Amino acid sequence: MNTPKRYLITAALPYANGLKHIGHLAGAYLPADIYVRYLKAQNRDVVFVCGSDEHGTAIPIQATKEGTTAQAIIDKYHPIIEQNFKDLGIEFDIYHRTSDALHHETASAFFKDLEAKGDLETKTSLQYFDEAANQFLADRYIKGTCPNCGHNEAYGDQCEKCGKSLSPEELINPVSTLSGNSPIKKETTHWYLPLNKHEDFLRDWILKTHANDWRAAVVGQCKSWIEGGLQARAVTRDLDWGVKVPVAGGDGKVLYVWFDAPIGYISATKQWALNNGRDWSPYWNDSETKLVHFIGKDNIVFHCIIFPIMLKLHGHILPENVPANEFMNLEGDKMSTSKGWSIEMDDYINHWIKKENGGTGLADSLRFYLTAIAPESKDSEFTWKGFQESVNGELVSIFANFVNRTWVLMHKLCNGKVPKIHTEFLDAEDEAILQSVKDSKEKITELLELYKFREAQFEVINLARIGNQYMQKKEPWILAKSIDTDPTAQAKIDNCMHACLQLCANLAILVNPFLPFTAKKMCYLMKVVDKMLAWENAGNFNLLKVGYTLRAPELLFRKIEDEEIEAELTQLRSNLTQKKNTMDTNNTPDANTTADDNAKALKPEIVFDDFGKVDLRVGTILEAKKVEKADKLLQLEVDLGFEKRTILSGIAMHFNPEELIGKQVVVVANLAPRKMRGIESKGMILLAEDANGKLYFVQPQDAIAAGSTIS
Ligand code: MF3
Ligand code: ZN
Repeated sequence: MNTPKRYLITAALPYANGLKHIGHLAGAYLPADIYVRYLKAQNRDVVFVCGSDEHGTAIPIQATKEGTTAQAIIDKYHPIIEQNFKDLGIEFDIYHRTSDALHHETASAFFKDLEAKGDLETKTSLQYFDEAANQFLADRYIKGTCPNCGHNEAYGDQCEKCGKSLSPEELINPVSTLSGNSPIKKETTHWYLPLNKHEDFLRDWILKTHANDWRAAVVGQCKSWIEGGLQARAVTRDLDWGVKVPVAGGDGKVLYVWFDAPIGYISATKQWALNNGRDWSPYWNDSETKLVHFIGKDNIVFHCIIFPIMLKLHGHILPENVPANEFMNLEGDKMSTSKGWSIEMDDYINHWIKKENGGTGLADSLRFYLTAIAPESKDSEFTWKGFQESVNGELVSIFANFVNRTWVLMHKLCNGKVPKIHTEFLDAEDEAILQSVKDSKEKITELLELYKFREAQFEVINLARIGNQYMQKKEPWILAKSIDTDPTAQAKIDNCMHACLQLCANLAILVNPFLPFTAKKMCYLMKVVDKMLAWENAGNFNLLKVGYTLRAPELLFRKIEDEEIEAELTQLRSNLTQKKNTMDTNNTPDANTTADDNAKALKPEIVFDDFGKVDLRVGTILEAKKVEKADKLLQLEVDLGFEKRTILSGIAMHFNPEELIGKQVVVVANLAPRKMRGIESKGMILLAEDANGKLYFVQPQDAIAAGSTIS
């Protein structure tokens, strides 16, 4: 493809109903930001838009939870999320919001236009209605069992467990989340977008035109939607929170959140244009604009099927690509803010970045790890241990190490100035290093154009690795020892340090899209302006002028210590318990279900002999430690009097190993051994669990001899 005239880059508008976690960051915002920074370094005409998604049932539901209004919720979270992005270097050209009047006008006009052209249909049908609350139950106001996976907390619009998108009618045993009651059915009229009428267009556009340049998983998902047969989708709801339906018969109805939210990309562009004295329309209407949507995989259908149909009908350009990411899990489980199993951007910022005034590259450390494990082609897994290994092993030991050694040696051996080149002493290695930079630039450019950010970043680190090897080979510190005796020594040192410095300047350019704070800091160390970071400068070894004095060395990154990782894991465990507690004490239907479930969960009757088969013994815990790469497991050494046993127990999220030593427990002593993570577990420890999910050991009331029987 020729270089596009301009770019419009979008990142999914996050719901302003709560904090956003690092899985969101890795899924959409970080890759979008990397891409945009790269394009801007190329001096392309780019607008990067995002903002808060402030409609939909998620907002008023959160308001009820927090005992406040929907407006108060969005006014609370919009600025926090906006600031979180800034602190992590996600630099939008505009962070708009869908509650803004300009958006309401834009979405309203969009709907009116489709309605007037006859592109929408109306249909009257029976829909779920909560009599107690006197309200229709759209989307998240209704819960039930997922027909796809059996999860019993699926919403009326989607099952968060298996990801399937649903309609309320598909839920088994639906209940209102407002009252917990079973709903009745009541007649109502809505507007529908007949997706089925656009199947040919989609087949052609996705399955033919973009079959090879879009990610396989994206094409695959679209294919299964299209081949499953598309149906008309309701684009209005009986709610009062949202963009009012602007046509006759629309009283008491609003646009479906997934109809208005993507139009938010257009409203945001309009607001950006107003703020900057520019014209928004070519960005959405001129075929020479390249539109790219960055999203997570749960948003594929909306960005690849529904919104493109809307764009086409309204006469706009279509996205050139939708590089959706898979999910990032956390320490073995799906990330979820509501379940307390997540790391919020806000938490990371407070725990790591703010504590050190952003001085030691900790925003970039997170960016680095998230890109290193970006879920570009399959789900990936964030672990704190992995974070530590990635930062310490690559950023600190390779990248920062090279830059730091260069700076220290340049001050020590070249008076803190960029040394000159002595051409007569240049050799094959000096030439090779320049060639490496050129090759890396080419690879990185190609990978970025293909949205392969993970590999692209790897190449940058690899270039720093090559720098280290070059320096190691030249050994300027050894040459320095013979300066008095060898007249060529200083010249060779100068050549080496000159190359290392020029390589650092190149690294700053190439690392800039990924680690912008680091690139800035390197510019500071080099005493150059940000303009040096222009992509076209990469591959050039004259970026730093001979004789120029550079600043004293400063560390770009610092090591992540074991204790810090431990502290994060402890925090994660306590979040989980805390969230469970608040969830169950809130008088929501969730709490009712838990109580009910406990009562109902009684197992079928057994006879005495069944029980008699179980050999229960008192044991004393002698040792306890974590199991590597299994964050829920503890490995316990338990004294049973007659022998010592290794027992694995899934309690690592609830107890610290230290607090368990010496505890007496009840052990199922004749349970068949089971191997987990390569360790054989012989027996099982009994635990009681209260309604909040807190665990308690079952224990004899006084200490007694290990091995005592229980019957
Ligand atoms: N708020 C949605 C989510 O978090 C994303 C909306 S993207 C947009 O899943 F296109 F609708 F804006
Ligand atoms: Zn499901």
